Amino acid sequence: MLSEKMQKALNDQMNFEIHSGYIYAAMAAYLESVDLGGFASWMSSQAAEEMEHAMRFYKFIHDRGGRVIFDAIPAPPVEWQSLKVVFEAALEHERVVTGKIHELVDLAVELRDHATQSFLKWFVDEQVEEEATADQWIKMIEMSDCQPAGLMMLDREAGGRTSAVIAALSADEG
Ligand code: FEO
Repeated sequence: MLSEKMQKALNDQMNFEIHSGYIYAAMAAYLESVDLGGFASWMSSQAAEEMEHAMRFYKFIHDRGGRVIFDAIPAPPVEWQSLKVVFEAALEHERVVTGKIHELVDLAVELRDHATQSFLKWFVDEQVEEEATADQWIKMIEMSDCQPAGLMMLDREAGGRTSAVIAALSADEG
């Protein structure tokens, strides 16, 4: 059984993962608006992954006999100045997520909640990957010198990523 304190913290993180998905979906919409369809597709996959992260919390809270509580999600930004700024904002956001996950681990240790500590391990590892990926895109965008030919090549590469959720939606269309 989850303690009240742990249940509240896990619900907060579930809602923050949805907030993350909302931000990435808004970034995808911005990227579509500036004709970077490959990166827009990449960001849509990222948004779908964040919802999947939220659902991991949802399931875990239920499995531990807790109650899932959805909260209001703040509106994300609408515009960014450039592709590079989008990924800088994404990296900054992922650093905030990492901090929140680490705080959750600290709380689970303090409460001697071993099951939650074990559950959070996946997220600790995932955050290393999340930050590294955003950082890699920033470096590649910088290497392209933000020139159209280089950005188009990167856009094609980014478009190669498709999450299972997006793939299922595309299959429905076909
Ligand atoms: Fe679920 Fe990108 O943090």
